[in-house]
Amino acid sequence: MAQPQTWTTLAVLDWTTKRFTEAGIAGARLEAQLLLAHVLQCSRVQLYTAFDKPLADGELAGYRALIKRRLGGEPVAYLLGEHEFWGIPLHVDPSVLVPRPDTETVIEVARGTRADRAAPCRVLDLCTGSGAIALALAKELPAATVIATDVSPDAVAIARRNVERAGLGERVEVRHGDLFAPVAGETFDLIASNPPYIATAVIDTLSAEVKREPRLALDGGADGLSFYDRICAEAPAFLVPGGALVVEHGFDQAETVRARFERAGFTGVTLVHDLGKQPRVTWGRRP
Ligand SMILES: C[S@@+](CC[C@H](N)C(=O)[O-])C[C@H]1O[C@@H](n2cnc3c(N)ncnc32)[C@H](O)[C@@H]1O
Repeated sequence: MAQPQTWTTLAVLDWTTKRFTEAGIAGARLEAQLLLAHVLQCSRVQLYTAFDKPLADGELAGYRALIKRRLGGEPVAYLLGEHEFWGIPLHVDPSVLVPRPDTETVIEVARGTRADRAAPCRVLDLCTGSGAIALALAKELPAATVIATDVSPDAVAIARRNVERAGLGERVEVRHGDLFAPVAGETFDLIASNPPYIATAVIDTLSAEVKREPRLALDGGADGLSFYDRICAEAPAFLVPGGALVVEHGFDQAETVRARFERAGFTGVTLVHDLGKQPRVTWGRRP
């Protein structure tokens, strides 16, 4: 690919966009902008106020290193060390899943289960990863006390950093442990979860980018459903009567997840589609 004589901001962006597009990266220009803004420590808009400014050698070297890593399959969020979910900036690193737009449906459904969003309530986020769901629900339910659990000590550390960063340490607590173990004997008005839900054998067929994410965050067991077996069976004991369970699942898992909700005695079991019109979230209430 022909290289320009002077690497101005615009020339760098144009070159990278082309290279990323050739490599099959969706949103190539946006990613080029995000990475360059990260290196130059400015906003994306500011890039264009100095579009004809040549990059210094050190800036160019730093940017090239990131481009190389991106082309090697590292998700842009890990390179930036940050990702926004529900308007909340979150630290992310390879110990946590990069929160997906699909998961916003969990937030919409979960807040909708509360008739009075301003009323105090207790919320549990199982498998919290970066803390995305816990923090978004704390934001949506301003009187809620939220407990988030994860079995990965590294994820717990990241989630705790994100709680502090969001200034929500008074209302959001992150605990380490296996699913419900850290909340033994407690009850909640709302339980939300985006657990691992990819079948083990499918993980090796995923894109290089997804495979950079922790296996622990992806692996849902032989059929991808092992977490729903446990969550649906155990959740009623941790919910107050009328309390709601809301889970994200794969687009092709809706029927099997519904069956688990019904088997566990949940009522009003409802499937909700995500913004891409895929079956994505199932929820129901403890009678
Ligand atoms: C699909 S990620 C979801 C992360 C986050 N909730 C989100 O939506 O971005 C699943 C998370 O479950 C955690 N996890 C895996 N097994 C677990 C278990 N037995 N108990 C608690 N958390 C677990 C992983 O460490 C990972 O952070």
